[in-house]
Amino acid sequence: MKILITGGAGFIGSHVVRLFVTKYPEYQVFNLDKLTYAGNLANLTDIEDSENYTFLKGDIVDAAYLDEIFSVHKFDAVIHLAAESHVDRSITDPLAFVNTNVIGTVNLLNTARKHWADNLQDHLFYHISTDEVYGSLGAEGFFTEETAYDPRSPYSASKASSDHFVRAYYHTYGMPVKVSNCSNNYGPNHFPEKLIPLAIHNIKNEKPVPVYGKGENVRDWLYVLDHARAIDDIFHRGKIGETYNIGGINEWRNIDLIELLCDLMDEKLDRPKGQSRQLITFVKDRAGHDLRYAIDSSKLMEELGWKPSVTFEEGLSKTVDWYLQNTEWLENVTSGNYQSYYEQQYTDR
Ligand code: NAD
Ligand code: DAU
Repeated sequence: MKILITGGAGFIGSHVVRLFVTKYPEYQVFNLDKLTYAGNLANLTDIEDSENYTFLKGDIVDAAYLDEIFSVHKFDAVIHLAAESHVDRSITDPLAFVNTNVIGTVNLLNTARKHWADNLQDHLFYHISTDEVYGSLGAEGFFTEETAYDPRSPYSASKASSDHFVRAYYHTYGMPVKVSNCSNNYGPNHFPEKLIPLAIHNIKNEKPVPVYGKGENVRDWLYVLDHARAIDDIFHRGKIGETYNIGGINEWRNIDLIELLCDLMDEKLDRPKGQSRQLITFVKDRAGHDLRYAIDSSKLMEELGWKPSVTFEEGLSKTVDWYLQNTEWLENVTSGNYQSYYEQQYTDR
């Protein structure tokens, strides 16, 4: 089987590519990535020479390029992760999110439909999405697959739109599709504009750790390899036309999470207990900041037998160790463009 994975040089994509390349040597895995600021081939150096792996540098917004690679490689299936993924960036530049997340997804669907026309049913388009499409919860309740869409940031609006297009191609053209909507991931290779890697980086360097608003917003955290395992399960055993929610059963208020991380890093860096908490700095809130996300994954757990395998304590400890050991990776991605973007964001708050 020839599988096209888009966005495979990014955070989650790199773990999915590695899992498929190593677990399924009989598959040919193609990683299509534009290598934006968030794409990093250093995430895949350990498998880059594998015989069943090919990297393709390209942009999903470029329909002619997609047509060419589908003609040459004749993919059987697509796992689509490529996206602009950061909510704060979507607030400053919504169109970048429309281009990649909406137009890029529709380009991929069109190209797949054209190239798979003779035997559409033998193919699969698996779209990776987010719990943010469901909007914001109050103190109670969970998002299920039946929860009505209510996206509230330009990022989540663009992801919701792409989800709708994927389902529209299923109903209108009979495209075999699957969709999954996952909660917040954390783990190695996570770009340090997102809360956990940003906090690790700043605590390590004794810089302020920005907490938006009062830190009362709640997220449901899942170790990235458990997301990759869920994608493997859904890709192979999920039902065509269905949606699966994926969550960590692991809700944390941001402030509690950051305090936990500060204490863990004090231990790992041999600092006096409580020292890193002094870096916590409350800053202006994110515009339209969703209060709480919480996922009900019972469909995935009951139908496919998936469950998270890594506890939060283990996952966070492994993640901190990875960032402390991979200083070169961190220095590379936090220099140059990222640094000026981050400083600008921070000044604007
Ligand atoms: P990321 O930003 O780390 O990686 C995105 C990758 O897509 C990068 O390698 C980037 O170079 C590539 N890319 C961006 N625009 C492209 C384009 N036009 N053409 C080709 N490649 C392009 O993102 P991530 O956190 O790994 O998220 C991956 C997917 O999972 C996204 O679709 C995101 O919406 C979804 N998701 C993420 C999370 C999370 O917590 N990070 C949770 C649920 C769902
Ligand atoms: O829920 C899934 C989503 O999780 C994915 O679809 C997105 O791609 C991914 O980026 C993530 O979105 P969030 O906005 O939840 O993640 P982020 O790490 O940016 O923020 C997590 C929480 O921490 C959120 O409540 C905002 C807050 N925050 C974030 C940053 C970067 C801070 O308090 N300070 C910060 O510096």
